Amino acid sequence: MTSALMSNYGHPKLEFDHGKGCFLYTTSGERYLDFTMGIAVNCLGHCHPHLVSALQQQAEKIWHSSNLFRIPPTERLASRLVELTFADRVFFSNSGTEAVEAGFKMMRRYHYSQGDTDRVRIIALTQSFHGRTLAPIAASANPLHCEGFLTGDPGFDQVPWGDIDALRAAITNKTAGVILEPIQGEGGIRVTPFDYLRKVRELCDEQGILLMFDEVQSGVGRSGYLYAYQASGVTPDLLASAKGLGGGFPIGACLSTERVAAPMIAGTHGSTFGGNPLATAVGNAVLDVIMAPGFLEESMQIAACLRAGLTDLIADYPSVVSEQTGLGFMIGLKCAIPNTDFIAALKDAKMLVVKAGANTIRLLPPLNVTREEIDLALITLQGACEKLNPPN
Ligand SMILES: Cc1ncc(COP(=O)(O)O)c(C=O)c1O
Repeated sequence: MTSALMSNYGHPKLEFDHGKGCFLYTTSGERYLDFTMGIAVNCLGHCHPHLVSALQQQAEKIWHSSNLFRIPPTERLASRLVELTFADRVFFSNSGTEAVEAGFKMMRRYHYSQGDTDRVRIIALTQSFHGRTLAPIAASANPLHCEGFLTGDPGFDQVPWGDIDALRAAITNKTAGVILEPIQGEGGIRVTPFDYLRKVRELCDEQGILLMFDEVQSGVGRSGYLYAYQASGVTPDLLASAKGLGGGFPIGACLSTERVAAPMIAGTHGSTFGGNPLATAVGNAVLDVIMAPGFLEESMQIAACLRAGLTDLIADYPSVVSEQTGLGFMIGLKCAIPNTDFIAALKDAKMLVVKAGANTIRLLPPLNVTREEIDLALITLQGACEKLNPPN
């Protein structure tokens, strides 16, 4: 059958009927260990009872009213995010790319409000990924994502990841700010060195430009902190969040300081669905679970077990896997063979992972994964390595 869907995602064959916790099930009852989690979205696994109940309860009250009116769960989620982070203000969107886009607009609008109307350019790092709408693709400048889509000079510059001198050299009197991922996701699960983050912060302050962190993938507990920047001690002016914030329900958020939010007066930006009560009711439920005392500590103890197992795997099968990267439960496993072969072998063994960067696979279990599920993952990874281990 020819699919009516566009071909932009290819045409995957595997389909699932339902999910529970760490597992996905096909209609014929086959069970897959899901370490993809909707690409770092389902931070509490599939159909977490507290999230399901929050969604059901909200669905029976009101689905949508619009930002013409006050929305109590949305105000509550915003104030909780403000309490838990550097931010003073929150704008809600429906996705990561929209959260990033809002941040770009805010960077420009901030300088505009200061009378510095030339400061419109934004600097991003190589191998970054900030989403698929026009401004984020221009920021990341991945030729595969840009080809045929951009015209003229969209106003973004790129500098090599981690190179502070290159960043300093790229800043001009037209620069509005810098965007970076504290942990690069699509680029290959690379932790941006904290010392570099500190230097970027200093440079931005010195030059009077803004710093935005894209924590769409690294945020909401995956690093062991609500946001990964909290591990580094370096605070941004703006932060994009999405993915895990809704635990599987679409939501995005752009967090900012008062200073940067001040020029966003009524009418300057908006979204019909952004901050709708279904999304924010689930967002509140996500925070209930991951901010509960001890939850992230326990999660990181289990992450340490997975990491220890991966260290052994690399020692035992260096011709298949060569290095682990990342922080907490945002884990990259560099492959010494094509990562597509490794992903296929794991899929045969009923474990799902997703690729990243040039030759890495991502392991993104839910934050509430159990020791037993980690053991199953390690046994499955070992089985795949054994199968793929090229004879000497
Ligand atoms: C770091 C980062 N920023 C932005 C995005 C875009 O988010 P979305 O696909 O929700 O638009 C992603 C998605 O993978 C991401 O990883």
